[in-house]
Amino acid sequence: MAKEKKVKFKESIGLDIGSHSIKLVHLRKLHEGFKLLNYEIRSTIPEGIEPNLSDLSKDRFAPVLSGMLKSMKINPGKVKHLVSSVGGDNTSIKQIKTIFLPDEELESALFFEAKKHLPISGSEMLLDYQVLSVEEKTNNMNILLASATKELLQAHTNVLMGAGITPGVVDLEALAVANSFALNSYVEDGVFVILNIGAFKTNMIIYGPKVKFFARDISWGGYHFTKDIMKKKKMDYAEAEQYKFEHGLKKDEADADSSSIISLDITEKSTAELVVQEVKRSLRFYVKEAGNSDFRKILLVGGGAKLIGLDEYIADQLKMTTEVYNPFVNLEKPERFSDKQDPQLALALGLAMRPA
Ligand SMILES: Nc1ncnc2c1ncn2[C@@H]1O[C@H](COP(=O)(O)OP(=O)(O)OP(=O)(O)O)[C@@H](O)[C@H]1O
Ligand SMILES: [Mg+2]
Repeated sequence: MAKEKKVKFKESIGLDIGSHSIKLVHLRKLHEGFKLLNYEIRSTIPEGIEPNLSDLSKDRFAPVLSGMLKSMKINPGKVKHLVSSVGGDNTSIKQIKTIFLPDEELESALFFEAKKHLPISGSEMLLDYQVLSVEEKTNNMNILLASATKELLQAHTNVLMGAGITPGVVDLEALAVANSFALNSYVEDGVFVILNIGAFKTNMIIYGPKVKFFARDISWGGYHFTKDIMKKKKMDYAEAEQYKFEHGLKKDEADADSSSIISLDITEKSTAELVVQEVKRSLRFYVKEAGNSDFRKILLVGGGAKLIGLDEYIADQLKMTTEVYNPFVNLEKPERFSDKQDPQLALALGLAMRPA
């Protein structure tokens, strides 16, 4: 993560186009740090209607984005520094170790390595990498390897162009989430687990200034919590979504017979149980791979982080301090935003703060 690089822009926009909502953060660069100018979160899915993933068309993004720019009084033609992100199945990010390779050999070797993670033909893949360190004794190189399919980038570009924006830097979601934490929390040591809980997926990131980077997606998110409530409470989608916002995983006190949404029946695992199971599995894998178990905290971001009781449930299950992360810690804020904090904006903020 490019922590020490100089930032060379006056204003920046971080744009997180999620499958459920678009999040936009507008910042001004100060002599030191940033000032929050404005932000907005807007859903791209009609309220109360159950989304069907297979027919959620990409065409819905550009008009929503246009509307946001208009209400925030941002002229898309004048946007100079915009950072957006892509994520999901057609992307991959991995820290690898190789023997020392000179520049001219490095790219083709990494291309070969990256192909293992994205099973597509080479000409369809875009690759980016960063040499993190060269080990003194062995001369081995630690490299962060990021790849995405051209098709995904093209679809992303089309959304931006559809809203009149010329695409700028496009980052990978997992990196932007890690940056959001790294640039706001000056931790020196230890391993931090960040869960960016979206609507249909959760990015799991393991990050620490001196530790091996790890990222994967877990295929459950806020939508699946709503599905659990529909099943357990026999509610329709709109009712369940409302119930989720009001009660989260907590027991419904008014209803004496009710139990919490954490468990379904014995034959079926709930979303909370499935997420914890996958996180546990990845933590075990990480400890083996990286030889480090100095876990300090689990940080929850994304819209799903706002689910009442989820932090407590995860803390209890994983026996680790768990907190909903407030991304607006290290920002100057105008009066009207003085007490605002929203974990759903963490990724967009990480994008907006990315060094040029
Ligand atoms: N206060 C809240 N309580 C519980 N859930 C919430 C709350 N606010 C938002 N959510 C849920 O968060 C999800 C949207 O979060 P987010 O904007 O991070 O997703 P996304 O980025 O659009 O999706 P993805 O990352 O999967 O593409 C929805 O499922 C929504 O119901
Ligand atoms: Mg998201």
